[in-house]
Amino acid sequence: MLVLDGLTKAYGGTHAVQDVGLEVPAGQFVGVIGRSGAGKSTLLRMINRLAEPTTGRVLWQGAEVTGLSGRKLRDWRRRCAMIFQQFNLVGRLDVLNNVLLGRLAYTPFWRAAIKAWPREDRSIALAALDHLDMAVLAPRRADHLSGGQQQRVAICRALVQEPEIILADEPVASLDPRNARIVMDALQRINRHFGLTVLCNLHSLDLARDYCDRLVGMAAGRVVFDDVPAALTEDAARELYGMEADEVIDTAPAAIPTLAASLPAHA
Ligand SMILES: Nc1ncnc2c1ncn2[C@@H]1O[C@H](COP(=O)(O)OP(=O)(O)OP(=O)(O)O)[C@@H](O)[C@H]1O
Ligand SMILES: [Mg+2]
Repeated sequence: MLVLDGLTKAYGGTHAVQDVGLEVPAGQFVGVIGRSGAGKSTLLRMINRLAEPTTGRVLWQGAEVTGLSGRKLRDWRRRCAMIFQQFNLVGRLDVLNNVLLGRLAYTPFWRAAIKAWPREDRSIALAALDHLDMAVLAPRRADHLSGGQQQRVAICRALVQEPEIILADEPVASLDPRNARIVMDALQRINRHFGLTVLCNLHSLDLARDYCDRLVGMAAGRVVFDDVPAALTEDAARELYGMEADEVIDTAPAAIPTLAASLPAHA
């Protein structure tokens, strides 16, 4: 179980995240939603300590991770892998070597520097690629791949860290709708297959509804919605998104009046 307890992040006078308390059972797929500036990224970044909480605690499996430093902090970051909107691959390296970078916590850096990865690391990386049907791309340069392929390579790189939690910050925001679904399918597959806990910031409500077990809605740094996706009514979504509502809510197009219907009925 991941526990966030009174988690707050202040930047000067503004609170990016304010007094967030959440309990996430291991293995749950949580979507974090809310308008721009609501605090979604800051929340995720505090979990893996890319942002230091101003107050509050993060606990995983009963142990506090706020306050860890040095080797213990590095180990925590290995256990909660982060996936970003911009993939962050090394473009000139091939796919296999990009995935292998996820093994750095297990293997001395000099081996990575001269690409002398142990055989076991190579087979773990290939297995991860194979798991997402990407093994044939192993020798390709990362910058020759499509966005959707690059994000799946980034997911493989996260996977070979052997994490327990995946923190994905708008992982499909740069992708077209088809690739967005392929990448969400990949996240769902590793969530279900490996029992990984996933926290995923999402802009699209459709994807949030289709892929998440639970939605956490944020507004002005606070959690204002926390329930199963089916409980997010259109009214609740409009309240959450305010001015951005029409961008994220796909409503059925209004019926177009037909010519016949607009003609006066025959007597
Ligand atoms: N490093 C920082 N310094 C100062 N203010 C920050 C910093 N990071 C975030 N903020 C502020 O904190 C608030 C929350 O930002 P955050 O990036 O977490 O929002 P978000 O929900 O991820 O938004 P988006 O959907 O646009 O990505 C915003 O008002 C933002 O300006
Ligand atoms: Mg963000």
